[in-house]
Amino acid sequence: MSRLEGKVAIVTGGASGIGAATAQRFAAEGATTVRMDVTPADGVVALDVRDEAAVIDAFAAVSAEHGRIDALVNAAGVAGGGPVHSMDQTEWDRVVDINLKGTFLTNKAVIALMLEQEPSSIGQRGSIINIASIEGIEGTEGGSAYNASKGGVVILTKNLALDYGRRGIRANAICPGFIDTPMMAAVFGMDGMDHVRKSFVDAHALGRCGEPREIAAAALFLASDDASFVTGTAMVVDGGYTAGHQHGIADMLGLG
Ligand code: NAI
Repeated sequence: MSRLEGKVAIVTGGASGIGAATAQRFAAEGATTVRMDVTPADGVVALDVRDEAAVIDAFAAVSAEHGRIDALVNAAGVAGGGPVHSMDQTEWDRVVDINLKGTFLTNKAVIALMLEQEPSSIGQRGSIINIASIEGIEGTEGGSAYNASKGGVVILTKNLALDYGRRGIRANAICPGFIDTPMMAAVFGMDGMDHVRKSFVDAHALGRCGEPREIAAAALFLASDDASFVTGTAMVVDGGYTAGHQHGIADMLGLG
C-alpha cells in the first residue's frame, strides 16, 4: 500500500488521537510525515498552533528539508465551552484561538509555501485537510465556543477551496462523529456524564463511536491523488450521527 508514495505531509495534533492515527497511516502509505504538537512526544516537533512565527518556522523547516509540502492535516484542537451566559471570555478565547485561529495560522503558512511549489504531474500543489466536527455543522447542548470554532473551520475551509483551487491547492474539512480518543475520554469522564455518553453513542446510526483510524482513512483519501476533484467539502465521517433522529420506530418495526 503506497497511496502517498513520494509525498510530504505535516500533521498537527500529531501526538494523540486522530492526529497520531493519521500520521501513522500516512507514513504506512509512503509519505514522509512530520508530526507537530504542543504536547511533547517522541518524534514530534514541538509547536503551538497559536504562535504564528513558530508555525512559519516549523513549516519552512519541513519544506527546506524535504523539498515540498504536499499535505497538511490540521488535527490540533481542544474541547471546551459551556452555556454562553456563564462562560468566561478566557474560555471562549482558549477554544477559539486553538481550534479556529490555529487553523487559520497553519493554513496561511502552508499555503504560502504551497504556492511557491511546482505543481505535480496532475496539476496539484497541495492538499489541506482541516479536522472540523459534526459539531461544526449542528449545535450541541453546552457546545458554544467549540461548535462556533468548528463551524468557523468548515466555512474557512470552503473559502480556501474557492481562493486557491485554480492555483492547484485543494482544501477540505472532515467532520467526525464521536471518536474514541483521549479528548473524548476526558469529556465523558467528567462527573455525571455516564448516561450522556450512552445517549451520544446511541445517536450514531451504527450504534458505536468511531475509531481514530476511521478518520485517518478519510484524511488519506483527501490527501491522495484519488481525491484530485474533491475540494471545498465538509466530509461527514460520523457513523450516521447526522443522518437524522431516531425515535424507536425501527425497534417498533422489528429492525432494531
Ligand atoms: P486529542 O486530545 O487526542 O488530540 C488533540 C491534540 O491536539 C493533542 O495531542 C494536543 O496536545 C494537541 N493540541 C492542543 N492544543 C494545541 C496547540 N495549541 N498547538 C498544537 N497542538 C495542540 O483529541 P482528538 O480527539 O484526537 O482530536 C483531534 C481533532 O479532532 C480536534 O481538532 C478535535 O476537535 C477533532 N474532533 C474530535 C472528535 C472526537 O470525538 N474525538 C470529534 C470531532 C472532531
